[in-house]
Parts: sequence; C-alpha cells; structure tokens
Amino acid sequence: MCGIVGYVGSKKAQPILIKGLFNLEYRGYDSAGLSTIENDDIEIIKTKGRVNSLKEKSENKNLNGTIGIAHTRWATHGKPSDVNSHPHLDNSNTFSVVHNGIIENYTELKEMLNSKGYNFSSQTDTEVIPNLIHYYYSKGNDFIHAVSLASKDLKGSYALSILCKNEPDKIIATRKDSPLVIGEGQSEFFISSDTPAYLNETKNFYFLDDNDIAVITKNNIDFYNNNLDKISKNIKTIDWSQDSVQKNGYEDFMLKEIYEQPNSIRETISSTLTQDKVEIEGLKLSKEYLKTINRIYIVACGTAMHAGLAVKKLFENLCKIQTEVDLASEFRYRDPLIDEKTLCLYISQSGETADTIAALKLAKQKNSKTIAISNVIGSSITREADYSIYTHAGPEIAVASTKAYTAQVTLLSILAIYFAEVLEIENPQIKSLKQDILELPSKVTEVLKVNDEVKELSKELYDKKDIFFIGRGIDYPASLEGSLKLKEISYIHSDAYASGELKHGPIALIENNTPLISIITDKKLVEKSISNVQEVITRGATSIIITNQKLVENNFHKIIHIPETNNYISPVLSVIPLQLLAYHVSKLKGLDVDKPRNLAKSVTVE
Ligand code: M6R
Repeated sequence: MCGIVGYVGSKKAQPILIKGLFNLEYRGYDSAGLSTIENDDIEIIKTKGRVNSLKEKSENKNLNGTIGIAHTRWATHGKPSDVNSHPHLDNSNTFSVVHNGIIENYTELKEMLNSKGYNFSSQTDTEVIPNLIHYYYSKGNDFIHAVSLASKDLKGSYALSILCKNEPDKIIATRKDSPLVIGEGQSEFFISSDTPAYLNETKNFYFLDDNDIAVITKNNIDFYNNNLDKISKNIKTIDWSQDSVQKNGYEDFMLKEIYEQPNSIRETISSTLTQDKVEIEGLKLSKEYLKTINRIYIVACGTAMHAGLAVKKLFENLCKIQTEVDLASEFRYRDPLIDEKTLCLYISQSGETADTIAALKLAKQKNSKTIAISNVIGSSITREADYSIYTHAGPEIAVASTKAYTAQVTLLSILAIYFAEVLEIENPQIKSLKQDILELPSKVTEVLKVNDEVKELSKELYDKKDIFFIGRGIDYPASLEGSLKLKEISYIHSDAYASGELKHGPIALIENNTPLISIITDKKLVEKSISNVQEVITRGATSIIITNQKLVENNFHKIIHIPETNNYISPVLSVIPLQLLAYHVSKLKGLDVDKPRNLAKSVTVE
C-alpha cells in the first residue's frame, strides 16, 4: 500500500528512483512523485496517474541531483490528484516527505499546526508530517531531533523518507507499523518499502524495526532508537534473483507466477520435507509443549486466509487439535479465547499486512505462541512472531496471489505433519501424504496443460454478469479462492458457496445460463456434490466442473480434468484452472491483470 524509495550516492538519482518505483508499482498506482536536491534547493515533481507519467514529466526536467526520494500512491486520505500526490513539502519548502501508512491523529495535528500559522494545500494526512518536522526544527532542533520529536507525536502507521534542504547530503528514514528496508551498494544506499525495488542494485539490506531512525549519507549509515541512542543493525542478504522480478517473456507477472508454481512448490517442499523426514528451519516445538495446546487459530486475510481454510481439516484430523480459521480484520475485535494453551498461526505472503500483524500482536499479549508463515524474509510479521517459517515462492508481483497460495497450502500441510510427528501420533496416512506432497510439482506441471482448454472456456464467460463457484469439504475453500481470483482481476461479480448450502438461499440467484463452476475432488462426496450440480442445471445453470474423478453423468457443459492426489492437498491442483480462468477472462476484457483497479499488493493499513 504505497511504495516509497530513496537514493543517495554519486549517480543521478532520478532514473534510479523511477526504476525503484516501477518495481514497487504493485503496491499502489494512483499517482506518483519524486524529490531531489539540486543546488541546495528541493525539486519536486508529482502527478496523478502511473509511474510512467512521472517518468515522462521528470525526464523533461533534466534533474542532476544525486540524492532523492519518491513515491507511488494507493490513496487513503484525499482522492488521487496532483496535489495529493507525494512528496509533500512543509510551508517553508525545507523538508520533503514521502509516506506509506496512515496518520490517525492528523486532524488534531493539523489544528495544532494551523494555530501556529501553518497552511495546508492537500487533503492528505501526510502533509502534517513535513510541517510538524518544520515546527520542531524552527524551535532550534537539528534535522534528526526534529524528525524524532515529530514522529513521537504521530499516531498510526508510517514509513517515511525525508529530505532537508539545509542538510542536502542525507536522507532520514524511519518507520512504525509500515515496512522500510535500506539496501547497501558501493558508496550508495537504496531505500525502499520492499526489497524487489532494488534487487538489481544490491542483495544486502538492512530491515528497519519500529521506531528506528536511519541517517543515510553516500558513505555512511547510522541507526538510532526512539531516544536517539545509536544502535547497531545486522545486514541481511536476500537470495532472490533480479530475474525473479522481471516478466521474462511473459505478457504479465500473473501468468509468469502461475507457471512458476511447479518450481515454487518444489522449493517450498525441498526446504522442509524429504521422503521420511520433516525439518522446518527456525521451528523447534517440543512434544511437551504441543501436548498442552488445545486450540490452533489460523489467522490471515484474502487468499492467505483461504490457504488456512484449505488446511483446517488436515490439522484437526492429523494432530487432533481443534483448529479455527479467522479473518485477521475480524479476529482482534471479537475477543477470541486465547491463552497459553492456544497456538496461533499467521499467514501472510508479504508479511506486511496490517490486519494480520495486529492480530498477531493481540495473541502475543495473551501469552499464546505465534508462528508466522511468510514468503518474505525479514518482513514485519516475521520479526513480531515467536517463530517464522517460509514459503519459497520467490517474489510475487501480481496483485492477484497465485504461487503464494499453492506454496502456503503445501507448507501448512507439511507443518501439520510436523506437529503430528512431534506429538508421536501414529497415523498410517502420514507416509502416503508425504509421498503425495513430494509429487505435487510434477502434478502441477500436468494441470498447467489445461491452459488452452481454459482459454477457450474464458471466451464463453468473459461477458457474463455473475459467475458462481461451489464445492464441498476441501473443495469449498478452493472455490472461495477461485471466486476471489475472478472478481479481483475481471470485475465480474462472483460468489462461492458450500455446495450443500445453495438450496438454503443462493439458488435463488440462478437464472438461465448462469455459469456455475463446481470443484469435485473428494471421492466420498462425489454423489452428493453431483446432486447439488443437478439442482442448478435443472434451474438453467451452465455447469462447469473441475474434477479428478470419473463422472458418469454427461449433462455438464464442460468438464476440466485434473490429476488425482491426496484429498487434503487437492486445493493445490484444483485452484490452478481457476487461476488461469481468471487470467484469460481479464485479458479478454482488456484489463490490467497485474494491477487491478482499487487494489494494492500489500495492504499495510487496517
Ligand atoms: O500479503 P498477504 O498474504 O498478507 O496478503 C493478504 C491479502 O491481501 C491477499 O491475499 C489478497 O487477498 C490478494 N489480492 C488475493 O489475490
């Protein structure tokens, strides 16, 4: 949600800032802007629209500054417009600020600053920040003291990069509840919301913690805590390649990421599971501890929550521990029953989702152990949790999550096996489940062969008003995920229902030719599922089936066959035709697949 970047070194900052913004555009794309320091003055260029517009506008200016900050916006306060774009300046044009997050007390701060003679031209919460810094600066504090005092007044979340025209050799960066990393090069530093912005420049990053303040010049970086005591920070090496953040010949990141799934699942498995052994780096839970656990909560948002739903049954059946799956945004407000006998798992691809992080903090306060399942090493959630384990999906750039979901379901399934083994639960199914997990990469490769068939089908569906999905048992969470994929990138209204629930209300929505996509992968539930499909066919629905079963009836409009696997992990396979369907429908409608309207990749506000 908003991407911020910064550069300080010997090269021209403008192209480096623009490149970083292009790489972060998945975080927001309403408007963009940048600031450099030229001849001891702050230059600022900003515009409504995408980074490309900023690139054109800033190239005409021939900026030579070797220090700068920039921003790509996902609007919260104030509609997308030139004036609401970042960077924001204080009234005296001394400080330029880019911000990711929300300042919850901006109205009070604005009133206070108004009373001291400050004026505001935008509708943003951000504009109070440079003015607040200036307010403290005007009282005789230097740049860093002014930033420190101002940040103590801010309530809410922020990642900030700040320029001061009177100290033109440095950027000050700080954060609270919004991500910020600093990459180190040869006598140059790269600031960004996320590592993919500058993976082509460096693999070595510092990860700021809440309330850290970094003072960055061309040849030096110093870190301070809240009280401005100097602190030291370790640098981390990120092993993602630059290729992983390029389209590499694919038209869109989403399609590339769909096709990367055999590999992302293989990498996730190979870091945790061999034929007879589960070992998860960073996780050491004892039998004594797991025996005390009487409830597991799996908490996440969107697709990550669907991954949680997909493994609930596995945790319950294999580990014999009651398992609840919750939306992070609801979890913390419903006073969940958490104590030291509860184990809380938090799934987040980005590791930066504000709702999920807040829900994790709540569990910690209530003495529950917490495990983060993330795709991003060093992300905020992994620094909050007691334990962190990682999917190895590589960077996911498209806003619609695909390879992260299948890697999450795979890793969580391995985690359930790990718990069962630590608990020494004898279950003959475990051996064959491990084998089936090991075979997933080749089966995913097999499923991807349905692409042409799905592309044809998309021609029949792209102009529909509503498309429904149904599934029973494990197929219900998979249908929720298929429906989410379709609606977020095709803008077609879609809902998913448990198959048996249709007749309790939603069947009223079925009209002649309403497409209904059913997932059927559980042998034991085939007959019941088919009966539900027949009920809607009778009412005029066009029935499309995704299945790994041999079906005897033949009055379906279309059947897409996928390989059979252990039912616990079938969502890893059944979701793939649905990812492809969403992709092709979106393409046929001429939409921006990777950057759907109103969305952003990391939702860092609650
Ligand atoms: O980074 P996270 O896994 O925490 O993100 C959670 C959701 O915001 C995310 O899955 C979202 O629903 C995607 N757009 C779905 O494709």
